[in-house]
Amino acid sequence: MTPTPTPRPYSGLRCIGCGRAFPLAEIRYECDACPGLLEVVHDLDRLKAERDGAAWRILFDSRLAERGGPHKSGVWRYHELVLPDLPLDRIVSKPEGNTNLYRSPRLEGESRTREVRLKHEGENPTLSFKDRGMTAGVSWARHLGVAQVACASTGDTSAAMAAYAAQVDGMRGVVVLPRGRISVEQLSQPIASGCLTVSLPTDFDTCIRLLREVGRKRPIYLLNSVNPVRIEGQKSIAYEILQDLGWNPPDWIVVPVGNAGNISAIGKGLFDLKTLGVIDRVPRLLGAQAEAAAPLARAHREGYASRVRVRAGDTVASAIRIGDPVSYDKAVAAVRRSGGAFVSATEQEIMDAKALVDATGVYICPNSATAVAGFLKARAEGTIGEDDTIVIVATAHGCKFSQATIDYHGGRLAGVVPRLANRVVEIDAEAAAIERLLTDGEAGGPARRGGA
Ligand code: F0G
Repeated sequence: MTPTPTPRPYSGLRCIGCGRAFPLAEIRYECDACPGLLEVVHDLDRLKAERDGAAWRILFDSRLAERGGPHKSGVWRYHELVLPDLPLDRIVSKPEGNTNLYRSPRLEGESRTREVRLKHEGENPTLSFKDRGMTAGVSWARHLGVAQVACASTGDTSAAMAAYAAQVDGMRGVVVLPRGRISVEQLSQPIASGCLTVSLPTDFDTCIRLLREVGRKRPIYLLNSVNPVRIEGQKSIAYEILQDLGWNPPDWIVVPVGNAGNISAIGKGLFDLKTLGVIDRVPRLLGAQAEAAAPLARAHREGYASRVRVRAGDTVASAIRIGDPVSYDKAVAAVRRSGGAFVSATEQEIMDAKALVDATGVYICPNSATAVAGFLKARAEGTIGEDDTIVIVATAHGCKFSQATIDYHGGRLAGVVPRLANRVVEIDAEAAAIERLLTDGEAGGPARRGGA
């Protein structure tokens, strides 16, 4: 009897530094031969031979009509481009993705730009874009039979990992968090999901360094974006944006940058689509950082002469408070290849941008607002032109960072002037007092007036 042949895998791991190849089924995050990051490489020639660009578009569009099953997810709709070797029945999904792409007349007016849209990734199940990478990472961990998954986090990766690991029988999650530097809503998420929640009196950069050290000695499966499988799921933001736009590329995609996994993933996804003939042009990428933690914006200004590491300072955009991004090299390569740029925004610019967008009924977080502020700056400086079409990725929901909203509108955010404040009006518990207030026309702050 002849044995059934093992199917030839579509994907493997490759070092971005020296090109050395490893099997995807091997648990590793680093190259043996050099300090390079690993990436997942799919056999794009084989995928190209299976379908041409139009046929891929038709396949993905046909799946939009599916009401159940794995392809209903905005990640697994693109299964063949995410993890083609993962059997569909191994997928751990909520399902995620399928987030709204909002046109923003308010931002178009404010910036005098033709078309501006916001892809609201805060509409994912755990309220951030991290669900896309995590459905890939946890599904792959389950496929490999991993019992323990772990991550260091500024709050959103941990929330997502905990919630996906909780779906898998026998999988235990560990999250390592910088004490006092994540929001209370984010902290509540791994606790609620039953994850081992560890808090260290230090910053994120140290948390991840320590966890990577432990990961070299113990059999834990790391689910930070240093794990290249996470990046594959994260690419689906780019796929969905393009599909949302009828496969017509915008001129720019703007992304807030912390550990730099997301912008690397979006870049990788866009270049996949171009190689497969699904799109004919790759949008330029604009990465936005908070001034207090902006190594990539500085590197851009300095012509990428050398790798920049900074000690991250305080910022209201706490999820991107990262001075030494793990995916630095991938992000620089993606942004440069796209003809894009990195910019930084001040605390004032971030919170004003947030109030502007929030007041249109699309509630975003300070990290997302950094991308909005970065866009406004790049537009004002002329990097982005008035006829350009823009998609800004809002990465998490405003409800995950309530304190920042309340502090800004209440005028209690240090160093920030509440220019667009919508103050809570405190009055006596009397009908007459409410009536007086309405008659005086005091209801609704300046941010609300003027409409969307
Ligand atoms: N926006 C939000 C809301 C985030 O949580 C993060 C990263 C980013 C933007 C930046 O994405 O790191 O891929 O460049 N949060 C990570 C975490 C670091 O641990 O949750 P990135």
